Amino acid sequence: MIILNAISKSYDNTPVLKNVSLRVDPGERVSLLGPGGCGKSTLLKIILGLVPPDSGEIELLGCDMAHASEKEKLSTVRRVGMAFQQGGLFDFMTVEENLLFAMEHMTDMSSEEMSAKIEQLLKIVKLGRTRRMFPHELSGGMKRRIGIARALATTPQVSIFDEPTSGLDPVTSTIILNMISELGGEAQDNALLIATTSVEIAIRFSERIILMNAGEIVADGSWKKLIIEGDDWVRHFLSVRLIGIDVSYARELGLPDPFLRQHWSADLLA
Ligand SMILES: Nc1ncnc2c1ncn2[C@@H]1O[C@H](COP(=O)(O)OP(=O)(O)OP(=O)(O)O)[C@@H](O)[C@H]1O
Ligand SMILES: [Mg+2]
Repeated sequence: MIILNAISKSYDNTPVLKNVSLRVDPGERVSLLGPGGCGKSTLLKIILGLVPPDSGEIELLGCDMAHASEKEKLSTVRRVGMAFQQGGLFDFMTVEENLLFAMEHMTDMSSEEMSAKIEQLLKIVKLGRTRRMFPHELSGGMKRRIGIARALATTPQVSIFDEPTSGLDPVTSTIILNMISELGGEAQDNALLIATTSVEIAIRFSERIILMNAGEIVADGSWKKLIIEGDDWVRHFLSVRLIGIDVSYARELGLPDPFLRQHWSADLLA
């Protein structure tokens, strides 16, 4: 579904991505995790053909995104659901038109079904009253929620979400994460990729984590394995954000026993 081979990218001679290779297969659910500024959004934009890499190869749904014509790229990207940090809405369309546009191009729903779906999605992202508003009338956070609603309106082969829940309240975050997860449940072959700085979001969302630091992939695999067997930086990054959480919550997250024994006292675990 997604294959990157030795992707590098610099801005003004500053490397932002260094020799990044990864592969996401059908049915996989993956978190792209790493500290702010490590290159996650740039990587997603390269996958989608929005930013050209300096070197390396990209394949998205079989299309060579670094060399394809604009037309080929467009027809590939239409099979991909995406929600960006900034929302990525069309400014000249209302909220409703933005959602309709995605559904008309990517689903075969009737207009009644589309209208009902819009109603349902806007309610979920708590923006029921924005249907006829234009993006410039919305705050940054509102635009992002509409972007998420738009990505959830279709069931594409690949869905890519950049920081889907940052800045949202915990209840809305959980609802949105569950909805994204359900996208994978609806169609078994779908691939889901979310970028996040939050260890907790990443491990709640997926078993497999691709961990980035300073433009490089530093670990890729099951987080349960990485949190025990990763190198010092990997273990520190994954664990430091989980220390101090309630032990029952830690268990709910499915944190592995050796990690629990290392960080919580025996009587708390008993
Ligand atoms: N268009 C651009 N021009 C110059 N520098 C850029 C550009 N886009 C990104 N960068 C730089 O590339 C680096 C990686 O940015 P990127 O947005 O990919 O990080 P990120 O991991 O998504 O961060 P965050 O978690 O804060 O969203 C940053 O240092 C950023 O300043
Ligand atoms: Mg980003």
